[in-house]
Amino acid sequence: MHSAAEEILKGNLVALPTETVYGLGANALNDNAVLKIYEVKNRPRFNPIIVHVKDADEFKKYSADIPEEVYKLAEKFSPGPITFVVKKNSLIPDIVTAGNDSVGLRIPSHELFREVLSTAGVPIAAPSANRFGRISPTSAEDVLKELSGKIDYILDGGRCSVGIESTVVIFTGGKAKILRSGMITKEQIEKITGRLNEENTDKIISPGMLKSHYAPVTPLYIAKDKLPPVISAERNICFLDFSKYGSMKETALNLFSDLRKADEGKYEFIVCRKVKDKGLGIAINERLDKASFGEIEFKDDQIIIKRK
Ligand code: TXA
Ligand code: MG
Repeated sequence: MHSAAEEILKGNLVALPTETVYGLGANALNDNAVLKIYEVKNRPRFNPIIVHVKDADEFKKYSADIPEEVYKLAEKFSPGPITFVVKKNSLIPDIVTAGNDSVGLRIPSHELFREVLSTAGVPIAAPSANRFGRISPTSAEDVLKELSGKIDYILDGGRCSVGIESTVVIFTGGKAKILRSGMITKEQIEKITGRLNEENTDKIISPGMLKSHYAPVTPLYIAKDKLPPVISAERNICFLDFSKYGSMKETALNLFSDLRKADEGKYEFIVCRKVKDKGLGIAINERLDKASFGEIEFKDDQIIIKRK
């Protein structure tokens, strides 16, 4: 891991394990290193990158006008799967934030990532270590499949323990607003900050929140009903059954790896059903929506597909 920190300080890219998904890390203070992230991922330049820091004391170093609630939330949930979008200061290069005057700050809990942060002594910019629009990697093997030959170093920290990306929170009009759902739920945040801002603003506050994302190459369709056994036998369809998992946590943990395995299975298409739209289920369904190509219905021996 000392070599991972060295690579970071040399301005190279390193895939790093976090508790959520693997990140593609670079020294956040080095413009050229951050530029490589966009190139390797084929990420649009308007999509800002999260900056990972060691502890909440570092927030002040890289941002300004931090609302008190951010510290309250960080005290409760950090290190962990939550990102705070706050006003940036001049230390953070514009390329990290895609020209926005805000920066996403996160304190990861994965021990290896934390050691790299301590050893390198610089903040680490890291989006998920997948090609743009694809499924986020939750193991070092997944990273290899996504980015083999394009990066300098992968630090293997085992399988991610959360499995989906962090909850992204911003404060607007004195209220917290969730820009991306994750393991830390709306209810957990509201307990600390009071009611959230749930207005549906047309203004894009989070430029990276595109409608399609996390997508497998094989078309994924969302079914309202179970796949009839007769059709599944005749056609090469993969039915992903999340109800086999005992909890939402377990579903989140396996979501991306199940999608990835199904994608590798060379099926005609993949079908799944959404989970209960409550608590952590909201984050899971948000990802299924973005990964899906549309809806599917099975009527008698007919398959009706409604593409998005
Ligand atoms: O769990 C995670 O958050 C993982 C691990 C590696 O930390 N990272 C991650 O990064 O998911 P990425 O780039 O795949 O997603 C970050 C999202 C982007 O969609 C972006 O729009 C939003 O966070 N974001 C980052 N900085 C922002 C900013 N300054 N303002 C608004 N949104 C921001
Ligand atoms: Mg991503």
